[in-house]
Amino acid sequence: MTAHTAPVETFDYLVFGGTGDLALRKLLPALYLRDKAGQITAESRIMAVSRSQLDVAEYKAKTEEALRRHLHAGEFDEATWERFGARLDYVAADATSTQGWDELQAHLQGRDGVVRVFYLATSPELFGPISERLQAFGLVTEKSRVVLEKPIGRDLESAKRINDEVGGVFAEEQIYRIDHYLGKETVQNLLALRFANSLFEPVWDAGHVDHVQITVAETVGVEGRGGYYDNSGALRDMVQNHLMQLLCLVGMEPPVSLDQEAVRDEKIKVLRSLKPIGVENIAACTVRGQYRAGAVNGAAVGSYAEEAGASSGGKPSNTETFVALKVEIENWRWSGVPFYLRTGKRMPAKVSEIVIQFRQVPHSIFPRGAGEITPNLLVVRLQPDESIRLNLMAKDPGPGGMRLREASLNLSFAETFKSRFPDAYERLLMDVVRGNPTLFMRRDEVEAAWRWTESILDAWALRGDTVKPYIAGTWGPSQSVALIERDGRTWHDDAMAAG
Ligand code: BG6
Repeated sequence: MTAHTAPVETFDYLVFGGTGDLALRKLLPALYLRDKAGQITAESRIMAVSRSQLDVAEYKAKTEEALRRHLHAGEFDEATWERFGARLDYVAADATSTQGWDELQAHLQGRDGVVRVFYLATSPELFGPISERLQAFGLVTEKSRVVLEKPIGRDLESAKRINDEVGGVFAEEQIYRIDHYLGKETVQNLLALRFANSLFEPVWDAGHVDHVQITVAETVGVEGRGGYYDNSGALRDMVQNHLMQLLCLVGMEPPVSLDQEAVRDEKIKVLRSLKPIGVENIAACTVRGQYRAGAVNGAAVGSYAEEAGASSGGKPSNTETFVALKVEIENWRWSGVPFYLRTGKRMPAKVSEIVIQFRQVPHSIFPRGAGEITPNLLVVRLQPDESIRLNLMAKDPGPGGMRLREASLNLSFAETFKSRFPDAYERLLMDVVRGNPTLFMRRDEVEAAWRWTESILDAWALRGDTVKPYIAGTWGPSQSVALIERDGRTWHDDAMAAG
């Protein structure tokens, strides 16, 4: 049995918000797949908690339906379902009153000795109240851990308040702030790429790197999450957490070890070195967009206004579904190297990539007719097909003089490793049971990320900034192209669309 399938300690996993989209789409399928892999002991249990008045049988039926819908072909099988279904329990309890809590207490009777995980997949406003009730009902044991889903608050002040409330009940070592991007294989591969190879680190700096692009593009709209999303927007939903984490892993100094504190100490130094974006540079460094009706993958799709209309009460919404930023890390390694970040809904492809563009050669020895020498690119693709690609210049084969052409070294993880790629949540949910917080965010990290993001939100508000329209199925508003082209650079869209 390999380390990633060795059984973890017996646990009780309590999922608050157990009937919600995240629980049914991501968390329960991830736990099911770990069960299928043989990682969950016979005595471990999974308990969903939510306000809905359901009995266990109804909840099991809901879960089975969700598993059948969200698992990939061939992943659902009757034998695993029978075992998994038998672990499931359901308690209807209300986070804002004492209703249902006695029953929860009864369900946990005699289980103080096993690892107890409280996964709060609810609105962040409930993190404090739920923690307080857990304490009041004596449910927080020595072996308890709490997982907080993002977003933690909607600005620095609310994040601090929530952290204080949860921190009043749980010690920092018991608090796991999840950012599922850190559980993605290729994101962790960034650590392997940078620190298990001697090739890249010497050229990983302003002397050799021209700029970095980080793109997280999605084809989906806001689905059924308009209520949450319209209050949030792309900066809060994606940049403050996922993109900032990617930026940190690319930009950080080598940690002394993979130890939880060592990695997190280096990430926070990057967050603290970010050049502030405020009213004076907001126009030059940011673009906000919102999609209009268009077509994605050949299918017509409506505008954000139509999708979110109900939640904004029919008023025109100024929520951004796209954001592009020019970010600078002000330290010795990165001084003068821009990091261009962008993320959006309803883009032409679901693709997440980090592109490191190296500097142009200082002098060309080749004749004019040899063709243009394009700068080397290192492309780390997170999804859909995980890969690392290095674009190099090579000689075009054949006689007739020297002609140069771009060619690439391509490491496709699926082809090379021929193994199944677990979903990010599978790894992270088990890390919580193992008590390994390396891939989770520490309080100071979340607050530093909010501090920086908040100045952008404030500057937009002060300037009365309105969203720029883009057609669904395109790479965002034209202002995003201008943001990078002003600096004489270009987004690498073509490579992405081509896959
Ligand atoms: C979530 C955001 O954190 O990440 C969603 O709230 C987004 O809006 C999702 O769709 C993207 O995750 P992934 O793993 O599909 O890239």
